[in-house]
Amino acid sequence: MRFPIVVCAYALAVAAAYAQPLPHLEKRGQATQLMVDGKPFLMLAGELNNTISSDTESMRSVWPALARRGHLNTVLTAVAWNWTEPEEGKYDFHLVDDAIRSARQTGIRLVLLWFGSWKNGLSSFVPVWVKADQQRFPRAQVGSGKTVEVLSTLSENNSKADARAFAALMRHVRETDSTRRVILVQVENEVGLMGDSRDRSAGANQAFAGAVPNPLLDYLAAHGRPLKPGTWAQVFGAGQKADETFMAWNYARYLNAVAEAGKREYDIPMYVNAWIVQPQDKGPGDYPGGGPQAHMHDIWRAGAPRIDLLCPDIYLPDFVGITAQYARNGNPLFVPESFDGVKGAANAFYAIGAHSALGYSPFAIDNLTEGTALDSSPISAAYEILGQLAPAILEHQSKGTIAAVSLDKNRPEQRIQLGGYTLTTGLTRGFRNPNEVPDITGYGIFMATGPDEFLMAGDNLQISFTPTTAGPPIASVALQEAGRFENDKWVVTRLLGGDDSVLRYDFAKLAEEGQSGSGVRLHSPRQTIQKVKLYRYR
Ligand code: DGJ
Repeated sequence: MRFPIVVCAYALAVAAAYAQPLPHLEKRGQATQLMVDGKPFLMLAGELNNTISSDTESMRSVWPALARRGHLNTVLTAVAWNWTEPEEGKYDFHLVDDAIRSARQTGIRLVLLWFGSWKNGLSSFVPVWVKADQQRFPRAQVGSGKTVEVLSTLSENNSKADARAFAALMRHVRETDSTRRVILVQVENEVGLMGDSRDRSAGANQAFAGAVPNPLLDYLAAHGRPLKPGTWAQVFGAGQKADETFMAWNYARYLNAVAEAGKREYDIPMYVNAWIVQPQDKGPGDYPGGGPQAHMHDIWRAGAPRIDLLCPDIYLPDFVGITAQYARNGNPLFVPESFDGVKGAANAFYAIGAHSALGYSPFAIDNLTEGTALDSSPISAAYEILGQLAPAILEHQSKGTIAAVSLDKNRPEQRIQLGGYTLTTGLTRGFRNPNEVPDITGYGIFMATGPDEFLMAGDNLQISFTPTTAGPPIASVALQEAGRFENDKWVVTRLLGGDDSVLRYDFAKLAEEGQSGSGVRLHSPRQTIQKVKLYRYR
C-alpha cells in the first residue's frame, strides 16, 4: 500500500510545483522585482567558473557548500552549445539535468548562462560542426579582412543555428524543471567584437554601406533622438561611433532572435552581460565593440526588446558610478559578475539598497568552496545578513524607502535622504582622532520602517541623523537594538548605547552645529543588524 501513496504524493508535489507561476519580472511600486513562485525574490547569487558545471563530480560538494556555508540562494552556471549539441540536431542535456537536480536537492535557484555563439566575444563554445564549416557559418573579419574565431552577426545561418539550439534548451527546461529551479537566463556571454571597431566581412560591409534600418530610427526618434535617414556613416558620423552603433544593432538583433526562440518555448526573464570599457581602452575593438555598454543602451533597447535586462560585469573600482549607469531608463539592475571579499560584500549591499537590484553575483564562487574559505568569507557573511533581511528589503524596495552607501578612503562620507532625515554616513572613526580617514571599506543598507525609525545593517560605518521635516531640529537616539531575524521575527541580541552610539564629544561645537553627537555605529559581527528609534529636541 505504501508505494501508491508515495507515488501519489510525488505526483501531487510535481503538479503543485508546475502550478507555480513562471518566474517573471514585475513592477511593484517603485521597483521592478524578480518574481519566483509568485513572490518577489532577491538573488544572493554567485557565478561558477566557466566549465566546472561540466564536472559533475566536483560539483557534488560545491552545491551544498554554496547553499549552506555560503548562504547563496542562486547559482549562475554555464550551459555551452558544444556540450549540448555536439552533433547537429542531436541534443544532450545531462549536465543541465544534473544542475537542476542538485539545485532542487540544495534549495538553490539557477541562472543558466547560454555560452552559444559568443563567450567573451569569442566563438569558443560553438560546436565543432559549426566552427569547421566557415562557408555555412561565416565569421567576422578584422583589419585587412583577416578571419578570427568569431561568428559574424550578419549571417542568418549563424543566428538560426544558435536559436534552434537555445530553443531546444529552453524546451528541455520547460519539460523537466518541475520545481522551477531556473529563474533567469543569460543569453550569450559578454558579446562584442575585439580586434577592430567593426566586422569587415563581405556581408557586414554590404550592410554597413546600406541605410540605417527604420525600426532603429523610429525608436530613437520616439525616445528624443530624431535623426535624418541615411547610411550608418551618414547618420552616426564616419568612424568608430558609426562602427560601434552598427555592431551594437547587429548583436542586439541576433541576440533578440535567440532570446525570442527560447522564450517561445519557455517564457522567463533573459538578460545580456557587458564586458565594460576598461580605462586603458581607446575605442571599440579594444573592448568588445557592440556589446551592451552604457553608451549603447538605446541601440540595444531598440534592437533587442526580448532581452529584459542589460547587465554590467564590474571588475573596476567605481562600482557606484557603473551601477548608476546601468540603473537608468527603467533598466532593472542585476550584477552577474563582480568581486567577492569585503568589496563584494559592500557591492552587494550597495546594489540592492541604492538601486533596488534584483541581486548580486561574485564570479568564480566555487573557488571559495575549497578548504574553509567560504566560512570566513565576507560575501557569505553578507549573504547571511541579506538573507535575513530579504523580506524587509523587498518590501522597502517596492515602497522606495530604502537606501545604501558604500564607502572607502576615496569616498569616506556620504549623505542620504531617508524617512524625514538626512543620514550622514562615514567610515567608522575613533572619537580621539576623528580627522584621520581610515583605510577600510564601510557599507550599510537603511530602511525607513516607521516614524523616526530605521532598520539598518552594515559594517565599518557610523551614521548621524539630521531631521528634514518641521519640528525640533536636533536628533538623537531613543532606542538602539542589535539583533537578527528568525523566521522573519526580530530577535534582540544586544541593547546598545554608550560607545555604540556616541560619535563625538566636542559638545560646544556640536551645539553650534545643532547636532547631538549621537548616532549609530554598525560593525560586524555583533552589531551588524540594528533597529534604531530616534527622538528630537531643541
Ligand atoms: C568575464 C567572463 O564573463 C567570465 O566568463 C570570465 O571569463 C571572467 N571574465 C574571468 O575573469
